[in-house]
Amino acid sequence: MRVGVLTGGGDCPGLNAVIRAIVRKGVPEYGFSFLGFRDGWRGPLEALTKPLDIPAVRGILPRGGTILGSSRTNPFAIEDGVQRIRRTLQNLGVDALIAIGGEDTLGVATKLHEAGVNIVGVPKTIDNDLAGTDYTFGFDTAVNIAVDAIDRLHTTAESHHRALIVEVMGRHAGWIALHAGMAGGASAILIPEVRFDIDQVCKWVESRFQLEYAPIIVVAEGAIPKEGEAVLHSSAKDAFGHVRLGGIGDWLAHQIEERTGQEARTTVLGHVQRGGTPSARDRWLATRFGLHAIDAIAEGKWGQMIALRGADIVTVPLSEATQQIKVVDPALYAEAEVFFG
Ligand code: F6P
Repeated sequence: MRVGVLTGGGDCPGLNAVIRAIVRKGVPEYGFSFLGFRDGWRGPLEALTKPLDIPAVRGILPRGGTILGSSRTNPFAIEDGVQRIRRTLQNLGVDALIAIGGEDTLGVATKLHEAGVNIVGVPKTIDNDLAGTDYTFGFDTAVNIAVDAIDRLHTTAESHHRALIVEVMGRHAGWIALHAGMAGGASAILIPEVRFDIDQVCKWVESRFQLEYAPIIVVAEGAIPKEGEAVLHSSAKDAFGHVRLGGIGDWLAHQIEERTGQEARTTVLGHVQRGGTPSARDRWLATRFGLHAIDAIAEGKWGQMIALRGADIVTVPLSEATQQIKVVDPALYAEAEVFFG
């Protein structure tokens, strides 16, 4: 069997570990050959390929990014997109595809499966917002990067008696903010799932200063004030209809300064959270996902996604995993609230 592999959407640490595991097991154990498709769905659309064999995956385990490249190309937003993908697969003799991606890339995989393409999905995203799996790889690395930043910001915030705001990624789900904020001892954590009251945030800031400590506020880019809208960097939409978020941190700093008279500054972590070497846990999870993805291909489990449930790797229907995103449970948020202020 000839298996195509692609990585789509925002990159994340651990993608190369998945690719390596797929090839390292698929060649000797099943006798499969592989073809890499470049830049997400653009690869099969435009027949952009990269050879993928054991020598090609040597040394990539600790490397961030993806050797295959990525993009946010949506074949369903392009005329004849599905037919073009079918044609490419047929011309190149590719029997099955492994799509490694988040909600958008796997949403496309779900529809392609329904259109008869042999496909298995592997969940990735630093946001950890994919349903069907307890965790996605990339998340642990992103949280560790954010916690490291928060630890560093604590010391400079104390020296200068400033409120420091840390803006982290998370469009619709506040998993990074919640985990990093709790691990970093934040004075408040603001997430997209729970609209925040700016007066309350200012009270937490003031009470923190009264204790002679400087407040650190962790805010997800998609957090929204009670009376207001999400803050956008730009309202232009990508191929999947997403606007570009960003700016809530600066908005908060401005509000805090105006309302409390305390100096407030913002650090936007941005793509730093997605770059660089994966954590040990993400390498482990990504490797296991890759090993199980190639087993799923060998077993013809088309339309399934590899997932982590507890300590087990299982398969779940792609259609279930991509129906809706996984958001933060209010009970988990309530745990973090104990430490606010
Ligand atoms: O989906 C992952 C993610 O990192 C989001 O948290 C963020 O909003 C988005 O990607 C940013 O995407 P881009 O790098 O394309 O601007």
